[in-house]
Amino acid sequence: MRLSGRVAIVTGAASGIGRASTQCFAREGAQVFAVDLPDRGLAGAHAGQERIATLEASVADADAAEAIIGGATKRFGKLDILMNNAGVASNALAEAMSLADWDRTFAVNLRAPFILCQRAIPHLKASGVGRIINVASVMAEGTGFGLSAYCASKAGVAGLTRTLALELGKFGITANYLLPGAIRTGMTSPLWEARPDIADIWANKSALRRLGEPDDLAKAALFLASDDGAFVTGHGLTVDGGLMLRV
Ligand SMILES: NC(=O)c1ccc[n+]([C@@H]2O[C@H](COP(=O)([O-])OP(=O)(O)OC[C@H]3O[C@@H](n4cnc5c(N)ncnc54)[C@H](O)[C@@H]3O)[C@@H](O)[C@H]2O)c1
Repeated sequence: MRLSGRVAIVTGAASGIGRASTQCFAREGAQVFAVDLPDRGLAGAHAGQERIATLEASVADADAAEAIIGGATKRFGKLDILMNNAGVASNALAEAMSLADWDRTFAVNLRAPFILCQRAIPHLKASGVGRIINVASVMAEGTGFGLSAYCASKAGVAGLTRTLALELGKFGITANYLLPGAIRTGMTSPLWEARPDIADIWANKSALRRLGEPDDLAKAALFLASDDGAFVTGHGLTVDGGLMLRV
């Protein structure tokens, strides 16, 4: 029960890393306010869990920030942990990328975490043990064809989080980001199930010779959220099985 008495918000909580982190935080004693888009099966994903409350909203909608932060603090009385996990991938060569795709990627991956962190700050200051965990990607540091918007938005998450760590440390708030490698989630499974050869390439590129599972990330998030991570801030924690070791 490493998060006993803590209140957390997790976005993108219906699937993948967000779903696993929500369940993990709740198992460890936290009360969790889980957020995802409508029609993604959010309530069903956490049915019967008394420590988990759900809200269907888009983090890309600036007005939703009030509903998310206000909803969590009204429901559970305070806020200790904000995990900005919701994310979208876009795939188009820079030459062909529409501005609509660029803007949508940035709205979810970077603007939303900024707004939610901003609105959460007063509550995290009051907490005394405030935690920000933003989900970036190994693509914050690496790149790939078609990933200009995704990579740029995730590099932005890293810069945002380090700055928050600097500004908020004096209030006892830590701010860190995760850099997942190739993880089997709703974002990747459709392609990997259709093309197992591509899944094999990613698995074999990693030093540990396997794909990551959502729980691999949830456990890293738990470390950063708990007292165990109390002196870790401004850090990007790579959780990729050694995927990025090769040049
Ligand atoms: N899967 C990977 O290999 C991988 C690698 C690196 C980084 N990541 C990052 O991990 C995070 C979680 O993704 P995942 O892999 O678990 O994928 P996923 O698709 O399983 O989960 C993402 C969740 O975010 C939700 N979401 C998307 N847009 C939203 C919005 N506007 N408002 C609220 N919720 C929204 C989706 O509905 C979905 O439930 C993302 O930020 C992603 O970029 C994933």
